[in-house]
Amino acid sequence: MAEQGTGDTNEPHETIDALSAENRKFPPSEAFKANSLVTDTFLYDQAAEDDEAFWARQASGLVDWAKPWDTVLEWDLPDAKWFVGGQLNVAYNCLDRHVLGGNGDKIAIHWEGEPGDTRTITYQQLLDEVSQFANVLKDLGVQRGDRVNIYLPMVPEAAVAMLACARIGAAHSVVFGGFSAQSLSDRINDAEAKVLITADGGYRRGAVFPLKPAADEACADTPTIEHVVVVKRGGNDVEMVDGRDHWYHELIEGASTECPAEPMDSEQLLFLLYTSGTTGKPKGIMHTSGGYLTHVTYTHKYVFDLHADTDVFWCTADVGWITGHSYIVYGPLSNGATQVMYEGVPNHPGNDRMWEIIEKYGVTIFYTAPTAIRTFMKWGATEPAKHDLSSLRVLGTVGEPINPEAWMWYHEHIGGERCPIVDTWWQTETGGIMISPLPGATTTKPGSATFPLPGVSAELIDDEGHRVDVGGGYLTLTRPWPGMLRGIWGDPERFRETYWSRFEGRYFAGDGAKLDDEGYLWLLGRVDDVMNISGHRISTTEVESALVSHPAVAEAAVVGATDATTGQAIIAYVILRGGEDVDAEVLRNHVAEEIGAIAKPKQIYITPDLPKTRSGKIMRRLLRDVAEGRNIGDTTTLADASIVDELQARAAVVADD
Ligand code: WT7
Repeated sequence: MAEQGTGDTNEPHETIDALSAENRKFPPSEAFKANSLVTDTFLYDQAAEDDEAFWARQASGLVDWAKPWDTVLEWDLPDAKWFVGGQLNVAYNCLDRHVLGGNGDKIAIHWEGEPGDTRTITYQQLLDEVSQFANVLKDLGVQRGDRVNIYLPMVPEAAVAMLACARIGAAHSVVFGGFSAQSLSDRINDAEAKVLITADGGYRRGAVFPLKPAADEACADTPTIEHVVVVKRGGNDVEMVDGRDHWYHELIEGASTECPAEPMDSEQLLFLLYTSGTTGKPKGIMHTSGGYLTHVTYTHKYVFDLHADTDVFWCTADVGWITGHSYIVYGPLSNGATQVMYEGVPNHPGNDRMWEIIEKYGVTIFYTAPTAIRTFMKWGATEPAKHDLSSLRVLGTVGEPINPEAWMWYHEHIGGERCPIVDTWWQTETGGIMISPLPGATTTKPGSATFPLPGVSAELIDDEGHRVDVGGGYLTLTRPWPGMLRGIWGDPERFRETYWSRFEGRYFAGDGAKLDDEGYLWLLGRVDDVMNISGHRISTTEVESALVSHPAVAEAAVVGATDATTGQAIIAYVILRGGEDVDAEVLRNHVAEEIGAIAKPKQIYITPDLPKTRSGKIMRRLLRDVAEGRNIGDTTTLADASIVDELQARAAVVADD
């Protein structure tokens, strides 16, 4: 279907040229260094000497173990096991140990609802509610090793549900609330989940968006679901199925706050999180307990220079993505931090909502996505200027490359030119941050994620597998790390094939990158058929499958075209079946129904044909050139070159509109 491989790797060159002009440097200030956890190369030196011993030190220093491990790492490529023989309870580490340490009254979560209602939750309260809900899950028949699906808005109950699963050794599978009923049932069925936790609805852009109807639609087709627990948030009318559906608040009411945190094996499955690959079927990425918790606790502490006693951390991601798992739930809570959790959109009621929240709670560390920063730029510097942002100390970005202009704007208008920016590269599969500055130690350059963290080994490789020391290449990881995925649920072959087969002995991330002559890494985006829309991963094939599932569509080709705000935008080219006539808008909505609104193509071109090679492969690279308004070079390999002229003419008409 797709044109794979080398043709695509020429593309980052334009970006490489643009970035090589970027020479500004920002060393950490003396004022910042004076109070920073890491200001020298000590951690890097230690890790370089012996990475296993380094990780073992993090695991024993940052995590409480019920039973110490026998072996730090068992590595039989592609299978890694960390801290083998060790036992711990992840929820105990996120809750009980802080309460036992005398911090029960410390605020864990300042929750801010979109309409302006709030909840302040201490560690003691969170422990109690998690214990109650863990008992509820047990009463519903959930046992160690079972899977539980979570489909919730950004409410505290999402964190409660995840931690309750961790407490009893059930694996959670969170599905982002923006995904469709179809996506939800696919994920439930793949994981064979017993219980689904959802809500009536949640607030978004000033209105309630219903979730329960989508959950009901999904459950019509999920034979393994025995119970559905419904959190009341939106207040919208819902239908409750007798015997299957239960209100969260009713179940909790009678539940005991006593629920012992039983020790789990270090390699006990903690969660599945589905992410798009290059085929139509999302992969259930598997993460386990001891290594993952070590990785996220360590990175949350050092990358953000966390001072748990005084900092107020805020990560703006949704819990439905890996960023929310690692840097809303597990990292911050394991570190005993105080954080903000916000339910809604950044522009309700006004375009200054984020800055208002920072001022209100005295946020010191702010972690968001480049696409959001570019949107804030569009809304103008007058919005943040309305608020006192002087509490901020550290700023972070994640999800996609940040362009130097957006970096500089963030630095000036949000960070007041005093806050280090950590551009953090990682993936659902890596579990935690891999490449990033350490804010008190690293001199940053706008647009570069700088260097692998202590304990992480990354290398660039060319097509032949040779190491690249300066210039462009494929990003690979050469050593196992504690937070790495342990596999793809139910598909060990796809695991090996996707990540470990392209370059012998290495993990291939799917990203292109460049090393400059000072060894700084510049991430350049995906080199496979995976798009990055506002920091969210969607595969071209997945959108193509959704399009061809519409009865009027014969064939579809989807590309990610560069977009000034969202990084990439989804552009689709569709051939209709003979005699069919359907509006592009109908097809856009069909994709939203199949996958979710985030996968709606920005533009759909209905076309009589697609540019194909003589062997019948769609030339996606050409379609991308058309979508991005570039000149088309050589078309001699095409079966029918005239189609490109026609597509260009159509694109020009749309551009004029
Ligand atoms: C892909 C992973 C990690 C949580 C959010 C996305 C891109 C991520 C950066 C960055 C350039 C980045 C990569 C990666 N990406 N962070 N700082 N600079 N690109 O998680 O959905 O698993 O996507 O996001 O292309 O492969 P994900």
